[in-house]
Amino acid sequence: MSPLSITRTLPPDATAAALRADVAEGLSRTPKQLPPKWFYDARGSELFDEITTLPEYYPTRAEREILRATADRIAATGARTLIELGSGSSDKTRHLLRALTGLHSYLPVDVSESALRAAGEALLAEHPGLTVHALVADFQRGLTLPKTPGPRLLAFLGGTIGNLLPQERAAFLDSVHELLDPGDALLLGTDLVKDEATLVAAYDDARGVTAAFNKNVLEVINRELGGDFDPADFEHVARWNAEREWIEMRLRARDDLTVKIPGVDLAVPFAAGEELRTEVSAKFREDGVRSELAAAGLKLTEWWTDSAGRYALSLALRI
Ligand code: SAH
Ligand code: TRP
Repeated sequence: MSPLSITRTLPPDATAAALRADVAEGLSRTPKQLPPKWFYDARGSELFDEITTLPEYYPTRAEREILRATADRIAATGARTLIELGSGSSDKTRHLLRALTGLHSYLPVDVSESALRAAGEALLAEHPGLTVHALVADFQRGLTLPKTPGPRLLAFLGGTIGNLLPQERAAFLDSVHELLDPGDALLLGTDLVKDEATLVAAYDDARGVTAAFNKNVLEVINRELGGDFDPADFEHVARWNAEREWIEMRLRARDDLTVKIPGVDLAVPFAAGEELRTEVSAKFREDGVRSELAAAGLKLTEWWTDSAGRYALSLALRI
């Protein structure tokens, strides 16, 4: 058997049905909104990788700095299985894989099959002895993992936890607790609250890559559901919500218009200036992370930030 296996835990029509349900519900309500996982088709995953190299988008560099500095201490967990949720290109994961010398299996989980395939092939070329079981799955929908040896380390990097709404976050952390055994660990990346200008620039870069990424969700709806969105009819908006302490990504209609989406049998009216919320990206503080983890039975044992104090990596023990 090839050491790279890619398993779809949901049949392809379940993904299509979930997209239809999210689009039908999200575009019929006021205000309109869509869940962020639909950004990540093959093109969306490429655009996200480009975002991670932009001068304005500091979280990736900050997280890499922390991972480099702490990989050996993370390896002291003695993990034999590394699970990574929303693994994308698995690029920063290389620092962990190098340090985790006793590792038996790496289980990357992502909705983007193209990202999983490219990442899995590249990692196996570097770690020929490693078993890579990639799972095409939604980490919000009850994961079942293959049986691999413990202890296990579950990594959730990139600040992706901030893309879940507070209720979803609590449910997600409960499911992480359920997935792990006592003594297993969670490694969590969180972007931190900071000045508004730095935050907004990270989600509204000068070259417009983030704008293209945001509009990619319209292309996904056009392709999968026969929609007639013209991305040029929408403007990319990134706004800091100081009360909720999150960045909101929105698409604002430039004019009155109606979009037909035959796959869900909808004609969706937009008024000029009306905004569709496509994502939130919550920013955190140490106390909040500690108490959200504790509420899910996860005990924060380490809190590491980059030298500029912009971003944090936490290690927590499943109790
Ligand atoms: N961990 C990488 C990628 C972060 S981008 C990094 O730190 O750079 C978020 C990743 O999560 C994308 O690869 C996206 O495809 C994936 N993703 C988003 N929502 C998901 C969901 N509900 N289930 C599984 N993967 C998801
Ligand atoms: N997890 C990333 C974050 O919140 C995802 C992301 C980065 C993103 N830039 C984006 C999502 C722009 C939508 C639009 O930082």
